[in-house]
Amino acid sequence: MLDYVSEKIHDESRQGEAFLTISDPQKQYKKRFYIESYGCAMNFADSEIVASILSTEGFGSTSNIEEADLILINTCSIREKAEQTIRKRLTEFKKIKQKNKGMMVGILGCMAERLKSNLLEEEKLVDIVVGPDAYRSLPGLIMEAEDGQKAVNVLLSREETYADIAPVRLSSNGVNAFVSIMRGCNNMCSFCVVPFTRGRERSRDAESIFKESKDLFENGYREITLLGQNVDSYYFVDEVNDCIVNFASLLKKVAAISPLLRIRFSTSHPKDITDDVLFAMIDHENICRHIHLPVQSGNTRILQLMNRTYTREWYKSKVDRIRELVPDCSITSDLISGFCTEEEQDHKDTLSIMEYSQYDLSYMYFYSERPGTLAEKRYNDDVPESVKKSRLQEIVLLQNKLSLASNKKDIGKIFKVLIEGDSKKSDTDWKGKTSQNKVIVFPKENFLLEKGDYIKVKVFDCTQATLFGKIEIA
Ligand code: SAM
Ligand code: SF4
Ligand code: F3S
Repeated sequence: MLDYVSEKIHDESRQGEAFLTISDPQKQYKKRFYIESYGCAMNFADSEIVASILSTEGFGSTSNIEEADLILINTCSIREKAEQTIRKRLTEFKKIKQKNKGMMVGILGCMAERLKSNLLEEEKLVDIVVGPDAYRSLPGLIMEAEDGQKAVNVLLSREETYADIAPVRLSSNGVNAFVSIMRGCNNMCSFCVVPFTRGRERSRDAESIFKESKDLFENGYREITLLGQNVDSYYFVDEVNDCIVNFASLLKKVAAISPLLRIRFSTSHPKDITDDVLFAMIDHENICRHIHLPVQSGNTRILQLMNRTYTREWYKSKVDRIRELVPDCSITSDLISGFCTEEEQDHKDTLSIMEYSQYDLSYMYFYSERPGTLAEKRYNDDVPESVKKSRLQEIVLLQNKLSLASNKKDIGKIFKVLIEGDSKKSDTDWKGKTSQNKVIVFPKENFLLEKGDYIKVKVFDCTQATLFGKIEIA
């Protein structure tokens, strides 16, 4: 149950969203693909690259799995449970495939990279295996699979950023979009599989990021999230303009597109976030007041074992600095309970750093050992699952309390809200977000507004997850 709770609230465990149809009903397509995505925002952004590559090759998309010629599943390996979910889905696809002659199944993303051609052998679940850096080869692999060949490309690259590919916005509300600014990760946190599934870190051409963001704005989008596993280490040598672009300068460049375009970014590593990033936020009202600053653990010894390269004190000083320079900034985190050798007192340190940091929200997990990671090779996964889960429960309960307290502090305040669409429960209410990334719901009343508009809203009530407000006209 707990696992479910934590998985459910974590953005990075978005479960198998199938995308909307992007095809033109008038057009004749070579084949139709159906794509389902799991995992983090980067995976969802990658599915939009894949859709772009396939549509250039004459493929159309469908949201009806039964009418697809090709089922694609973009996968995540971050925890064992994520992989189990995908295996279950693959067996369901196998049944659909048996009913539809000629249908093929392709596995993309991190699990494809981790398991490579084993996936073709195992129970014949898939026909095509493509890792995150090999999507350009997908059309060729589809042809190979049609010819009955083994279609696998899991080569990782040091250069690939898909900079020149304009993503096809698949399940977009037309207001928010992801923009990938880098790929891979060099950090080698000992628990994490990402450096193995996504390869070395590389930054995308700054000009192409600027252009994609500007195009989005010109097409009506009002909020972009710059994505990377470690955005603060963005580093691009711009030979055309003879300059170095770091993350702070990239933020400023993108923020200058228009004051009406909100900029978010994720994820920040506590060791890399600089004062310059905070100064960029101060100077640009449209860089959102929210930093996702995962702590993972509040105990210095555990942090060392995790290879996070900062201490409890260093982390606290980063929180202090954010509070000092950007006082209205929300801070969110990722937390892992029950990492190797964690004692009760270490866990208490995690609870106390949560209190210290007053997180507005956290994504919370219990430790799941991943094959091939440094932790798997070096340490014993020695905390019993029941202890991992009961510690996670304490973390979740504390976070619920902190989230509610943070939202209660907003009651009576007025926020500039970007309208994202109708609220889930009623089409007479709007749903939007504050700069701090909090969801706010408020009645439409008789105002002529539409999604993508900004409006001032005064908060009068809240739950731990949502603010409730009323439009403020003054
Ligand atoms: N790059 C980001 C960072 O450093 O914070 C996050 C990357 S990871 C995709 C998202 C989160 O998953 C991590 O912050 C961590 O809390 C969690 N995670 C990663 N590996 C895990 C594991 N083996 N078991 C449990 N949680 C894990
Ligand atoms: Fe994984 Fe650490 Fe890289 Fe984040 S920074 S992706 S947790 S190795
Ligand atoms: Fe999962 Fe890969 Fe993202 S392992 S969290 S999809 S980078």
